[in-house]
Amino acid sequence: MPANIVVVGSINMDLVTIAERMPSRGETILGEDFHTFFGGKGANQAVAAARLGARVSMVGAIGGDAFGKEQLGHLEAEGISTEHVRTRHGMASGIATILVSEGDNRIIVTPGANATVRPEDIEASRTLLREADVILVQLEIPAPAVEKLLYTAEEEQTPVILNPAPMQPLPPECWNKAAYLTPNEQEFVQLQEAYPAIVERRENIVVTKGAAGALITRKDGSEAVIPVRAADVRDTTGAGDTFNGAFATAVAEGMTLEDACRFANAASALSVEKEGAQTGMPERLQVEDRDL
Ligand code: RIB
Ligand code: NA
Repeated sequence: MPANIVVVGSINMDLVTIAERMPSRGETILGEDFHTFFGGKGANQAVAAARLGARVSMVGAIGGDAFGKEQLGHLEAEGISTEHVRTRHGMASGIATILVSEGDNRIIVTPGANATVRPEDIEASRTLLREADVILVQLEIPAPAVEKLLYTAEEEQTPVILNPAPMQPLPPECWNKAAYLTPNEQEFVQLQEAYPAIVERRENIVVTKGAAGALITRKDGSEAVIPVRAADVRDTTGAGDTFNGAFATAVAEGMTLEDACRFANAASALSVEKEGAQTGMPERLQVEDRDL
């Protein structure tokens, strides 16, 4: 039986402009190249899990524009159920404007329809949430929806993986409702500063450290680093999302925390070898063939 995962989160189109340098204020320069990539942390994590064999449903919102239609077709082509993706007519879909030059990037995320994901939408997905093995959520949708999700999942006894990206405040009691927290290094620092009590629990916190692998913190105060094999890096956009989608799949399949991190490390290392967030996300066999 494939793992049954519900991803609640954002859906963006990533508009990537590559230029020799960044323009300064008021300046117009010519770019070198332009790409449109499917993105958004929620959609990225959903695609990562689906490619690895999970049965995935997405809960989120798109605009009534051309990008929204493209996103729906794309998610469905990836085998993801979009029954709980709402279309907000008269609104724009989420966009990430990404400027790349000299290996550096600057990003503006305009949430558009993602900002309309409300507690009522979570309530309307209650049955779906009850039937899931694991729920995966990020912080690119409004906090009230995430808060409602954490309460609903607790009532329905479905474990939640909360990827606090990008970091935004949640009511303090919310954090411990998540079965797993998966911050990156920077988010982990922010989490420790803002909510020391959560981090004191030290249980099921996985800190993603890019090329340095993943760090697991344990209740007894010990830590374990699960290293990652070096990759041929072309674009790290979405590497954390690939980790999270793969981690959710592994946890839903009942792997140990360590094995889930090994599996997720391998998937994310493969994903950075191609441009765009989702392009390089591997299929199951590619991960299994990779020396973990
Ligand atoms: O995590 C990467 C994603 O963050 C991009 O796809 C972009 O859409 C932003 O949401
Ligand atoms: Na990539």
